[in-house]
Amino acid sequence: MKATAKANTNIALIKYWGKRDEKLFLPMNSSLSVTLDRFYTITTVEFNESFEKDIFFLDNVIASDKEVEKVSKFLDKVRIAAGVTYPALVSSENKVPTAAGFASSASGFAALAAAAAKALQLDLSGRELSVLARQGSGSACRSIYGGFVEWHKGIEADGSDSFANQLLDENAWDFSILSVLVASEQKNVSSRDGMRQTVLTSPFYKGWLDTIEGDLSALRDAIGDRDFDSLGKVMESNALKMHGTMLGAEPPILYWQSGTMDVIHHIQLLRSSGIPVYFTIDAGPNVKVLCMPKHEQIVYESLIKLPKVKKVFTCHPGEGVTYL
Ligand code: PMV
Repeated sequence: MKATAKANTNIALIKYWGKRDEKLFLPMNSSLSVTLDRFYTITTVEFNESFEKDIFFLDNVIASDKEVEKVSKFLDKVRIAAGVTYPALVSSENKVPTAAGFASSASGFAALAAAAAKALQLDLSGRELSVLARQGSGSACRSIYGGFVEWHKGIEADGSDSFANQLLDENAWDFSILSVLVASEQKNVSSRDGMRQTVLTSPFYKGWLDTIEGDLSALRDAIGDRDFDSLGKVMESNALKMHGTMLGAEPPILYWQSGTMDVIHHIQLLRSSGIPVYFTIDAGPNVKVLCMPKHEQIVYESLIKLPKVKKVFTCHPGEGVTYL
């Protein structure tokens, strides 16, 4: 009863921000992402009735009690579905440098869900696997698939209709995604706390929800038409709106640093010089920049010269979960 799965991380073009159910990881709004090709987690799960308890190795080091607890809680869902109680040995290799400004929770829980379900021969559909991965980390449900992926928020209380599906595969449309690192320290407000604070206190939160369906529909059209400018405009304004809701929270949440602003201004400058380039920002100070492959080099070279930019990692759309 052993399986190994690999999952890539993803970056949201229309963000998930806010939960309607914290336990089941049910979102207030639907979101849309692109899965990346370079940053991933490979996880092996072995269930065995002779094991005494769950053991979790992260990058060959035994994980902290807190991390083991998170993994065990998640594995319990898989064990219940399979009708077994066997402990597991979990070994994860994370190729998502947190210093790259990407969260590893998306690829981490997508790989864990896939490996655990396969080890127990659950034979889940993509939709079912996304529902499972979602219960480890919301954004993980989108990493089950490659390319462009939509996570439907759903309306059911049990979360059965809150799942992800693929809109377009990773080979259908290539562009460049540059992750611009301006700070590598741990952020002081987690996305979980930031979301909760925003939903509970921000007067702008309703405005965010009111514009989501319009943003999603514009982005779906842009993807269908392979219209990069439209994609960039919607993505950028959606990210700015998300950060706007946080500025209105009590106490306010501001993830940006001076380097974040420098990158934003630089992108605006590049755009005014005629290069179609757009940005998005998650719950942190680092900036993800999108451009067409033919502009990748020039965008990279100009970003890396900015004094507060520490590193730039370049990715492209990548595949969904695979089994090794
Ligand atoms: O799933 P989490 O807890 O990593 O939250 C993700 C939140 C954002 O990255 C800001 C948006 C998103 O949709 O990925």
